[in-house]
Amino acid sequence: MPLMIQPKKAIKKLTPYVDGNHSEYLINNHNKILKLDSNEPTAKPSPKVTTAIINYLSEGPMNWYPDVKSEELCRHISKYTQLPIDHILTFNGSDHALECIARTFLDKGDETIIFQPTYDHFRVYAQSCDATIITSNEDQPGSLTDKITSVKSSNLRMVYMVNPNNPTGFTIPLDQIKTALETFSNVLFIIDEAYFEFCGITAASLVTEFNNIIITRSFSKAFGLASLRCGYILAHPTICEWINKIRVGKNVNAIAQTAATAALKDIEYMKAYVEEVNLTKEWILGKFKEMGISTIKTPVNFILLKVECPELVTEYFEKQNIYLRNRSMVPNLKGFIRLTIGSRLIMNRFWKIFESAPKELLFETNKTNLAI
Ligand SMILES: Cc1ncc(COP(=O)(O)O)c(C=O)c1O
Repeated sequence: MPLMIQPKKAIKKLTPYVDGNHSEYLINNHNKILKLDSNEPTAKPSPKVTTAIINYLSEGPMNWYPDVKSEELCRHISKYTQLPIDHILTFNGSDHALECIARTFLDKGDETIIFQPTYDHFRVYAQSCDATIITSNEDQPGSLTDKITSVKSSNLRMVYMVNPNNPTGFTIPLDQIKTALETFSNVLFIIDEAYFEFCGITAASLVTEFNNIIITRSFSKAFGLASLRCGYILAHPTICEWINKIRVGKNVNAIAQTAATAALKDIEYMKAYVEEVNLTKEWILGKFKEMGISTIKTPVNFILLKVECPELVTEYFEKQNIYLRNRSMVPNLKGFIRLTIGSRLIMNRFWKIFESAPKELLFETNKTNLAI
């Protein structure tokens, strides 16, 4: 029978987000795997998270819907961010927040600036709403305001930026964000702070001063809860109310709420992990330098490595159960792979295998005979 159903036009022409590799899920013994492709921590979350989940599983009302307002979690986020509770809304991961933001604010033809290269999910959500994406290079000269002004736009509604950016680590200073918020008061700025905990860089102080900013945050990175899906936004209460009209509060499941709350009760654990990652990053950057590998350092838990054959390098390491992210197809990042930085123990294991990899994969030598 011919398929008579069609998706809406915006979906038909949409280029989807390219997910990371998932073949690691086919390997039963997870201890064999070095998962360094998606910027999750290499360590498990705080033991207090595990205890809280076990308690929930034995005592919690699993037959009830979760708290649709995530009240307890919001109280802890409020304490953590120093922002009033009506400026906070929780989501099933920060990707879910990005999706709800696009659906709340973007109509057909609304223009959205996305600085490139960057995390690609917001582009997908915006285009699915028929918005028009205008790309601009993050490293062009000038301030954020200059960059936005230089874009030819007649109907600019939104600017999305990851700060510090994934995958380059490019960071926009707070004073530039503030000036842009003042200058373009009818434009909504989405600041994706998924990696905030690794560097402390944040625009959270601007959220009570301006009503045209939304910060998105994640429990998937420094807090180690990626599989449970939990994130939140920080924004003006009216902005939160509008987004809440389409947000499904039930999607922030009870185990995610329990786990995120427990993680916020053990900030010291997260901070110790972040400190270890930052020290390990310096150590391994030194190792790459000694070896003659060019790198791009970021203020967060990943770096970029320049190699001769990114496809073959990722393939070679995958055969050794090491997962890296090839970013070579991204504009301006030809030849680069992204490496998540984890604990010292894990990165030691990675380094031992990396330094014994065939040199012709890593460095430009005789280009023939590269089969692995
Ligand atoms: C910049 C950025 N934003 C958001 C996300 C997704 O976060 P979450 O797991 O909270 O949906 C990622 C994940 O890699 C990311 O790099």
